[in-house]
Amino acid sequence: MKTRPASAKKTITSGNSAPAHGVSAKTRKMLINGQWVAAASGETFPTIDPATGEVICRVPAGDKADIDAAVKAARAAFETGPWRRLTASERGRLLWKLADLLEENLEEFARLDSLDNGKPLAVARAADVPLAVDLFRYMAGWTTKIHGRTFPISVPYAPGAQFHAYTQREPVGVVGQIIPWNFPLLMAAWKLGPALATGCTVVLKPAEQTPLSALRLGELIQQAGFPDGVVNIVTGLGETAGAALAGHPGIDKIAFTGSTEVGKLIVRAAANDLKKVSLELGGKSPNIILDDADLETAIPGAASAIFFNHGQCCCAGSRLYVHKKHFNKVVEGVAAAAAKIKVGPGLAPDTEMGPLVSEEQLDRVMGFLRSGQSEGAKPLAGGGRHGDRGYFVEPTVLVDTKPGMKVLEEEIFGPVVCAVPFTDVDEVLAAANSNIYGLAAAVWTRDVSRAHQLASALRAGTVWVNCYNIFDAALPFGGYKQSGWGREMGEEALQLYTETKAVCVRL
Ligand code: NAI
Ligand code: MG
Repeated sequence: MKTRPASAKKTITSGNSAPAHGVSAKTRKMLINGQWVAAASGETFPTIDPATGEVICRVPAGDKADIDAAVKAARAAFETGPWRRLTASERGRLLWKLADLLEENLEEFARLDSLDNGKPLAVARAADVPLAVDLFRYMAGWTTKIHGRTFPISVPYAPGAQFHAYTQREPVGVVGQIIPWNFPLLMAAWKLGPALATGCTVVLKPAEQTPLSALRLGELIQQAGFPDGVVNIVTGLGETAGAALAGHPGIDKIAFTGSTEVGKLIVRAAANDLKKVSLELGGKSPNIILDDADLETAIPGAASAIFFNHGQCCCAGSRLYVHKKHFNKVVEGVAAAAAKIKVGPGLAPDTEMGPLVSEEQLDRVMGFLRSGQSEGAKPLAGGGRHGDRGYFVEPTVLVDTKPGMKVLEEEIFGPVVCAVPFTDVDEVLAAANSNIYGLAAAVWTRDVSRAHQLASALRAGTVWVNCYNIFDAALPFGGYKQSGWGREMGEEALQLYTETKAVCVRL
């Protein structure tokens, strides 16, 4: 792959000695119609340990032919397979069983995501895997509660006639799902959970940087007893496998999480046959500390808002607005927290922040750091690469940014926060809402009225008050403006995977 270092292109020649990280170096297969298969072309590509730049193993480079086969399998499973004949309760039990299996294998999944993505093992154990388990359980509960309504009908041009009219919710059909690398297992769960709860069938394409946990999940999906072809998992690059899926005439809906740039390509590809689209895209979330905030919680909260998952969160609190009364204290506090973060490989026990996911992301983030500093932004902490092996970046706090600067306007997707002082609430609200994104926002205050007023006025799909990065399977998540279309999780997610049919019966 063009973005990988030359040394990463070597093939694995020996699978005899187990690598130190304990994850098998064996070339993986992908899941199509219940079979574990190589790509039709026979091509593979490497997945890389971002802490070292070394190859973990190779996975099939799925392409158009493999996407065709997977879509065909998903279509057959949707239309004629046993899946359609399962009761809602039986579908729910399969999802619950999948959650149980995932929980039983929590440690293995945490290690896979930590190795493939670079995130600290402790974080994958405490957040990624348990949240995925919970999502499947939550969606298992919904299977039996997806229902329509009845309507009293008054038809002026049919006097005296009686009708019985109702709606029913039906699965949208065959769904293509393209997911990113920042929470590999959890993003698979957010996508698969509602699709399976509603009775759809799926072709899932994991990110090329982090395919391992999705492939292992495929084994658990089979073990749980989902019929063949209900979930197909095709590994491959975005430009090939991803593009083939987004433009495929055989799917009814495409769900995408990733960059806003690719989100726009997905919409264009879907326009050919007007397939349904849902998108969860970028963010540049404002995190606002008012003059009456409890700084004891707001300072560590602001640090965690940006440094959690190395800033590789679509909802990262990357624009930190602080009332001028507390500006120095807060930025010094966040900078001190940044300087204390232990940066290292995800699997090392004392690591608090791992590497960025890839050399491409390292280059992007370093580009932002150079651009910011060349335009006059000053790092109070960090500002550069950490070490010279792997894809580590120093946790960074920038001050002296100005509106219009790339670092303040664009999504960096790294551990880099821009801190900006403000004097009054209207001013900060206008600044917060001035961005093209609208995914998340946060307010730190002791004033309950101002908290609710700002929560209402902020143009964002999620607003946290006196907290940050709190997720629950019941809470819808998604964006205003260029942060996307539709909401994942919660009851809202079911709408993305169902059609509503109105039935009108003359009695
Ligand atoms: P990306 O948007 O290229 O990749 C996300 C997924 O889309 C991957 O599965 C990829 O294979 C697929 N993809 C890429 N090109 C495609 C195409 N033409 N057609 C269909 N699928 C395609 O994101 P990338 O390049 O990994 O990261 C670039 C930036 O995107 C990051 O710096 C960050 O700003 C943003 N991003 C946002 C995420 C979010 O959670 N909203 C997650 C990942 C990245
Ligand atoms: Mg890309």
